Amino acid sequence: MAEGVPAIYAENLCYRYENSNTDAVHGVNLKINEGEFVAVLGRNGSGKSTLGKLFNALFLPASGEISVFGVSPETDEDAYTVRKSCGMVFQDPDNQMVATIVEEDVAFGCENLGIAPEEIQIRVADALKTVGMSEYASAAPHMLSGGQKQRIAIAGVVAMHPRMIVFDESTSMLDPSGRREIFALAQKLNSEGVTVIWITHFMEEAAQCGRVIVTDKGSVVFDAPPRSVFQMREKIEALGLEVPDMIKLAENLGSAGIDIRRDILTTDEMEVELCRLKSKT
Ligand SMILES: Nc1ncnc2c1ncn2[C@@H]1O[C@H](COP(=O)(O)OP(=O)(O)OP(=O)(O)O)[C@@H](O)[C@H]1O
Ligand SMILES: [Mg+2]
Repeated sequence: MAEGVPAIYAENLCYRYENSNTDAVHGVNLKINEGEFVAVLGRNGSGKSTLGKLFNALFLPASGEISVFGVSPETDEDAYTVRKSCGMVFQDPDNQMVATIVEEDVAFGCENLGIAPEEIQIRVADALKTVGMSEYASAAPHMLSGGQKQRIAIAGVVAMHPRMIVFDESTSMLDPSGRREIFALAQKLNSEGVTVIWITHFMEEAAQCGRVIVTDKGSVVFDAPPRSVFQMREKIEALGLEVPDMIKLAENLGSAGIDIRRDILTTDEMEVELCRLKSKT
């Protein structure tokens, strides 16, 4: 994709909560291009959610700069523009439901944007189709599973036609199949051009992202493709994180004398590598 105005441009970005004497986000320099799929990893309290909220102008910087698709949230109007271009999906599906019927829930964000009712109807139907929930348009959200509720929350964001979506641990309350489905949905949205910021504690998810940003004490400490980040096992573990299981397995097999690649991230890659080794014997 041609590089235009970056989705996110941050320079020495800082944020401090009112009742705190340290920065929750400190000195962050970052450029994220439109169309990227970026994982954000970091131990509890390292500033991931605060950073996500700075990306969509839910929070405004204490100092430093941020611009989102070229807009700095300096005036109310600019902050509103940023919020329109960057949607956010949170962790708990229950806390994101606002209406008693699915289609009303999906329409809520668009209504707040003042979009015409006929246009909202079209957008809601399209968004429900995108998340595979069309047949639940008239259902009551509280009757849905956690994964289905998360799809509805995503539909509500998608209906606002954002250019970027921040997912803040949006799979952490789901079972493995629900997690895979929501991650696949984010991948689909990304393939359609939406920039995705994927905050997670699941290394297997981060391994599938194009780029991994690691935060610690409010600062970005690593910013590289997953294969590079997860090669630094000791450093990653020192930050309270883990590397994907396949990296550990490859390391163990290597120590046992098997001539295996050490940069394997996923089970699919491990399968290919093991078949390659088998064909050599
Ligand atoms: N409302 C608040 N008031 C004061 N301090 C806060 C508030 N919310 C977060 N913090 C502090 O800001 C820092 C960053 O928090 P943040 O929620 O961004 O971390 P996180 O990386 O998202 O953590 P987690 O993995 O637990 O979600 C932490 O030190 C946290 O204690
Ligand atoms: Mg958080």
